[in-house]
Amino acid sequence: MKDQLENLASQLKTAIAAADSLAALTAFETEKMGRKSEFNALMKGLGALPADERAAMGALANTLKTEVQAAFDAKKNELDAASAGAIGETERIDVSVPGTRRDEGHLHLTSQAIMEITEIFRRVGFSRVRHPEVDWDHYAFETLNMPKEHPARDEWETFFVDAPVSETMGKMVLTPHTSSGQVREMEKGKLPIRMINIGKCYRRQIDVSHVPMFHQFEGLLIDKDVKVTHLKGVLDYFAREFFGPDRVTRLRPFHFRFTEPSFEVDISCGICGGSGKLDDGNKCRLCKEGWLELGGAGMVHPNVLKAGGIDPEENGGFAFGWGVERTMAMKSGVKLDDIRVLYKSDFRFLQQF
Ligand code: PHE
Repeated sequence: MKDQLENLASQLKTAIAAADSLAALTAFETEKMGRKSEFNALMKGLGALPADERAAMGALANTLKTEVQAAFDAKKNELDAASAGAIGETERIDVSVPGTRRDEGHLHLTSQAIMEITEIFRRVGFSRVRHPEVDWDHYAFETLNMPKEHPARDEWETFFVDAPVSETMGKMVLTPHTSSGQVREMEKGKLPIRMINIGKCYRRQIDVSHVPMFHQFEGLLIDKDVKVTHLKGVLDYFAREFFGPDRVTRLRPFHFRFTEPSFEVDISCGICGGSGKLDDGNKCRLCKEGWLELGGAGMVHPNVLKAGGIDPEENGGFAFGWGVERTMAMKSGVKLDDIRVLYKSDFRFLQQF
């Protein structure tokens, strides 16, 4: 038994020393050292020996096994190191070869505009907030002084959600305007309010200047002694920052149920400078009369303040709501003949920005 073990161990060591590749060594390992190997069979045979011999043989077998394992590990390290070194010889890296450039994406035009708008208002103390884009009739209409069945609601071509009707909040809608965030903001209970709520809006409409999903940004300022001149100042500031230093706004009387007085806001045309005429005397083709319509605005109606838990005798404010896509389309340099192209995911269009 002793001889058998010693012979086998020395055979194995010789074989290990002779292995000249990692592949050969791996094959050796499975065949000669694994469960089905001769060595293992011998080890199993130990159990059949008389007790006094068994202990001595067991110890010897273990010593030999450790020796073989050590020889194997050393050889493996040696071959590993050799093969790593060989890579340097057989595979060269040419660091001067130009790399493969990855396709680089960028934010969508609308996201870029939202970031820019947010930043412009941040500088004058308005905080960006977000309110639900699927909301209750209560916030989209009712608290904005548009009771059920009021014909003014028709303007907002609303998508109603097929969901259970709430007794207090009414039906669920896809918000048709960001004004639904006004009373929600007031309900936070903190004054003064200087919010800029930017979000998705939905209306049942689609043509060259409308998409069923679009974005609005809604400014709301509530404080003591807020006047129309403050509104005008903020709108002019935005026009200068977003469109350029020579642009101004004008307020035209209008009607919204949730503001009083209400206005439509126009911006002076960037092509003709607000005159409606070009240098050659012809009419400006973009605006025809010097001004482009941007969106709605007004002084918050007392009923809306009350709905939001604010005493209209104490505090008042202004609000404005404009379409992001429309505003962006008017920015000099970006001419969109058909607003729908924004959401067609056509790379030829998107990659330009
Ligand atoms: N919510 C109005 C709209 O969608 C715009 C608006 C906002 C008007 C705030 C006045 C005050 O058209």
